Amino acid sequence: MYILRGALEIVTPRPTLKPLFGDAMGVVDRLANTDILIEDDKIIKVGKHIEAPGAEIIDVTGKVIVPGFVDPHTHLVWAGSREHELEWKLQGKSYQEILANGGGILRTVKETRLIDENELREQTLKRFKKAIKYGTTTIEIKSGYGLEEDTELKQLRVANWLKSLNLADIVVTFMGAHAFPDNLSKSEYVSEVIRMLPLVRELVEYCDVFCEEGAFTVEESREILNEAKRLGLLLKIHGDEFGDTGGGRLGAELGVVTADHLAGSSLDTIKALSKSGVIGVLLPGTPFALLSDHYSPARKMVANNLPIALATDCNPNCYTESMQLVQQLAVFRMGMTPAEALVASTINAAFAIGKTDRGVISEGWRADLLICDIPDYRHLTYHFGVNHVEKVIIGGKFIDG
Ligand code: NIG
Ligand code: FE
Repeated sequence: MYILRGALEIVTPRPTLKPLFGDAMGVVDRLANTDILIEDDKIIKVGKHIEAPGAEIIDVTGKVIVPGFVDPHTHLVWAGSREHELEWKLQGKSYQEILANGGGILRTVKETRLIDENELREQTLKRFKKAIKYGTTTIEIKSGYGLEEDTELKQLRVANWLKSLNLADIVVTFMGAHAFPDNLSKSEYVSEVIRMLPLVRELVEYCDVFCEEGAFTVEESREILNEAKRLGLLLKIHGDEFGDTGGGRLGAELGVVTADHLAGSSLDTIKALSKSGVIGVLLPGTPFALLSDHYSPARKMVANNLPIALATDCNPNCYTESMQLVQQLAVFRMGMTPAEALVASTINAAFAIGKTDRGVISEGWRADLLICDIPDYRHLTYHFGVNHVEKVIIGGKFIDG
C-alpha cells in the first residue's frame, strides 16, 4: 500500500460505464494538490491529505498525474523495417502503389515469415518497452504479417508471450485479412482466413479485417467477420482509410466494437456508426506517415456523438510507439482539444478493447498511472516531440520500460 503524495494536479476523465461522446468527450476533472492511495492493483482513494497507517509515502509534488494511455490499435509484431519506402513516398508513390508493387505490407510479410520466433520476440519486445516508456499501459496487438497459418500463429504466440511478461496489459487480435498473399487467388485466401479462425481462436479476443480498395471488399470482409462472430470473437474493422469505400458502413451494419481509420467517412457513415454504438478509432500517425493531409474528421464525429479513441497504428509504415505524438497530431491536425485527446487515449481507448476497469483516476479503478514532469496537463500536447512521462505505474506497480 502506498500514497502518491501532493501531485500538482491529477487530471482524469469522469467515471463512466460507456465511452464518452459529444461535449462529454471534452470534459476532464483537474484536482490540484491531491493524493492517491493505492493497494495492490487498485486505486483505493483520491483526495487531499490522505492518511493510511502503514502506507509508504511517495512524494510527487510538482508532478501531473494522468491515467495510463491505452493504445487500442497496433501491428507491433513484425520483422525488418521499411525506411526506404519513406523515400518512395517522398517521390510521390501512393500507399496502394507501393503495396501493388510487392512493397508495404507484402515486404513485411516476407521478412516476418523468415524470422526465427526468438528473434521476432526480441524485435517486438524493444518496441513494447518503448511504448511503455512513452506512457502506454495497455496495448492491442494484431497479427497480419503472415498471411499463412504458421506465421500468423507465430505472431500471435509472440503477442501472447509479451502478455505473459506482465508489463503492460495486452489484448490480441487476429488479422489474417490484412492483405492477399501472392500464391493464392482472392477467393482461395478468403477461405484460408476462414479456415484459420478456429485455429487461432484460443490466442485472440478480436478479429479485424482491412476493408478497402486494393484490400478486402465489403463482401469478403462481411463473410470473414460473420464467421469470426459465430466463433465468439469480437469484431474490429480497418475502414474508410482513403475514402468512403464501405468499410465504415459495414462496421455499422455488423455492430463492430470499433471501426478504425475513418479518414474518408462521409457524414452519413459517421451517423450510422454513432447510431449502432461503434467506437471510432482514429490513427492520425497514418496520414502523417503517408505525407497526406487527409485526417479523420474528428470535429464532425464529436458533433454527431460518435465516441472517439486514438491509437498509434504502430506498424512499419507508421512507425511510432508514442501515444503522446498521437495526441499531439490529434490536436494539431484534427482539431481535437487537449482534453478530448486525453479522453480518447484513456477511457475511450480502454472501451475500444473491452476494458472497463481503467482509464479513470478514481476509487476502485485500476491503478494504471503516469507521473509526468509538466506544469499543466495541456503540456502533453502543447509541448510536443519530447517524452513527458517520468514514471509509469501499471496495475499498481512501478514499471521500468
Ligand atoms: O493500419 N491499413 C492497413 N494496415 C496498416 C498498415 C500496415 C503496413 O503498411 O505494414 C494500417 O495502416
Ligand atoms: Fe492498422
